[in-house]
Amino acid sequence: MEFRRINGLPPYVFAQINGLKAQARAEGRDVVDFGFGNPDLPSPELAVEKLAEAAHNPKNHRYSASRGLPNLRLAMATRYKKVFDVDLDPDTEIVTTIGAKEGLTHLMWVLLGPGDTAIVPTPSYPIHLAGPGFAGATVITIPMSDPGTSGRDPGDDFLVGLQAAWAKAVVKPRVIICSFPHNPTSASVDLAFMERLVAFALEHEVIVCHDFAYADLGFDGYQPPSILQVPRSKECCVELYTLTKSFSMAGWRVGFMVGNTEVVAALTKLKSYLDYGTFQPVQIAAIVAMNEASTYPDELRTIYQSRRDVLIEGLARIGWPVVAPKGSMFIWAPIPEPYAARGLRSLDFSTHLINVASVATSPGVGFGDGGDGHVRFALIENELRTHQAIRNLRRALPELS
Ligand SMILES: Cc1ncc(COP(=O)(O)O)c(C=O)c1O
Repeated sequence: MEFRRINGLPPYVFAQINGLKAQARAEGRDVVDFGFGNPDLPSPELAVEKLAEAAHNPKNHRYSASRGLPNLRLAMATRYKKVFDVDLDPDTEIVTTIGAKEGLTHLMWVLLGPGDTAIVPTPSYPIHLAGPGFAGATVITIPMSDPGTSGRDPGDDFLVGLQAAWAKAVVKPRVIICSFPHNPTSASVDLAFMERLVAFALEHEVIVCHDFAYADLGFDGYQPPSILQVPRSKECCVELYTLTKSFSMAGWRVGFMVGNTEVVAALTKLKSYLDYGTFQPVQIAAIVAMNEASTYPDELRTIYQSRRDVLIEGLARIGWPVVAPKGSMFIWAPIPEPYAARGLRSLDFSTHLINVASVATSPGVGFGDGGDGHVRFALIENELRTHQAIRNLRRALPELS
C-alpha cells in the first residue's frame, strides 16, 4: 500500500532506544532515563483541582470552542504582556491549539502546499522537519550549529545558513521554522537576533514560525526573547507557546499560536473544520494555571537549572566536558573524542550507554542528519538519579580521561 504523506518519513530511531530501555528494565536493570523530553514534574495543584471540579459539571462535557475559550485566550494575552511586554488581541491574534505540535503541524497545512518550500534547521525537533512534508511541501535544511563546540554564536550561524539557502533556492521558501531555546541543541539567542530575522523576513516576504516551547526555561537570569517583541514582527511572524514545559502540563495538550492576524485567522478556520477544541475542563484549568499559578514556571526553572548543574558538573568530572546551556531542558553532548574517533555515531553511542551504563539518552540523528555527532540528555531525572547516572557512565566509559 502507498501512504504518500508518510512514506518519506525517516525511520523512528528513538524506537530502537525505547526498545533497549524496555529490555533493560525487563532484565531488572535500573535505567536512568534522560531519553524522552517528557516532564516528570507535577502540573500546578490549583489546575488539577480545577480540572476535577470542572469535569463534574455536565455543561463542560459538550463540544468546546476549537479556537479556545475567550478567557483562555485572554489569559494568554495577559501572560504575554506580563512576561514579554507584548500586546496581543485575544480575538484576532491568538488561537488555542492542542499543544504546540498540533498547532505547528496544522499551521504548515495553511501556509504550504505541493510545490512550496520551507527552511528548517537540522538538527530540529522532528515535527519541524516533517511538518512541511505533511502539507506536501519540501524542506530546505540549514545547519544548526552546536553552541558548545563551535565556539560561534548560534544565531549568527543560523542567519548565515539562512542567507546561503535563500540565495541557492530555486523556489523561494514561503516559511522559515525556528525555535529558541532550541531542542535538541539548546542554542539560545537574544533580541538582536530576532530583529535581524524579522528584518530578513520583511525584506523577503516570508513567514517566520517561531516555536517558543522553552519560553520560560532560560537559566542564570536569561529570559528567552519572544519574536513578537520586535517592532513590525506581527507583519510576518507567528509564535507557538505551550503549557507543556512552562507549567509541566504535557499531557493536557494546551498550546497557542499567536501573532499575525491573517495567519491566526487561517489556522482558526482550518481548526474549525478539524477539531472541537481541547476538553473544556482542561481549558478552564489552563486559565487557572496561567492566572493563579503564574509563577509556577519560575519554580520549574529553578529545578531544571539545578539538574543542569549537577549533570554538567558530573560529566566534566568524568572527562566529558559539555558547555552549560542557557536555556531549554536539554544537554546536547558531543560524542566524546575517543569514541567519535572510533567511528561511533549517535545511535551506536546511545545504544552503548544504555547497554553498558543503563543510561538512556536520545541519539542526535533522531533530530536530523545534523545531529549525528551528539546525544541529547533531557533533564527529567532528579539530582540523586543524575549522580547515579554519572557513576554508571564513569564505569562504562573507561576511555574518558
Ligand atoms: C521545540 C518543541 N516544540 C514543541 C514541543 C511539544 O509541545 P507540545 O507538548 O505543546 O505539543 C516540544 C516538546 O518536546 C518541543 O521541544
